[in-house]
Amino acid sequence: MSRVTLLDLFSHSDVQKYVKRSGLAHAVACAYHAYRLAPEYKTDVELAVKAAFLHDIGHYTWYRDGEWDYELYRRNDIHAIKGAERAHRILIELGEDPADAKRISLAVLLHTDSFLPEQSIRREPLQEVVAAADEADEEPGGLHHYRSISDYEAAYRLRQLDTLLAGPSLTEQTTAAN
Ligand SMILES: [Fe+2]
Repeated sequence: MSRVTLLDLFSHSDVQKYVKRSGLAHAVACAYHAYRLAPEYKTDVELAVKAAFLHDIGHYTWYRDGEWDYELYRRNDIHAIKGAERAHRILIELGEDPADAKRISLAVLLHTDSFLPEQSIRREPLQEVVAAADEADEEPGGLHHYRSISDYEAAYRLRQLDTLLAGPSLTEQTTAAN
């Protein structure tokens, strides 16, 4: 089974639609944070990067009278649940290994506890990396969702990340250097 790359994900019509809705620049930045952070958490770098790229794919548009309604969003949002399902469907469609698709989907589901009545998630390392990558790119007032990046720039940066993922991991590089 060939690898599903970040560029494969980026080319999928639902990724184009839904990742752009929540901010393509944020998704790309989180993918890079996950690449950097995954060795610290001793977890699978590729799965962490894919989950970080897709983590906000479940966002819905909470508008009232043409204006974003933060209160509606805060009370009713289930973007992590919706995102986990969307990410899983897209990954399976693209031919991702089913066990990996499930792990990525769970990491998307658990990147936030905002949808739970009691905020008491105990995360596994892969899920922790995605939450940490998201936090690393957050800006006050949710401004990280509004930063812009061109499709060209996003594709260029994702291709770079695909190349890094295809080579030796950061952990392997550190071991080799010692
Ligand atoms: Fe996010």
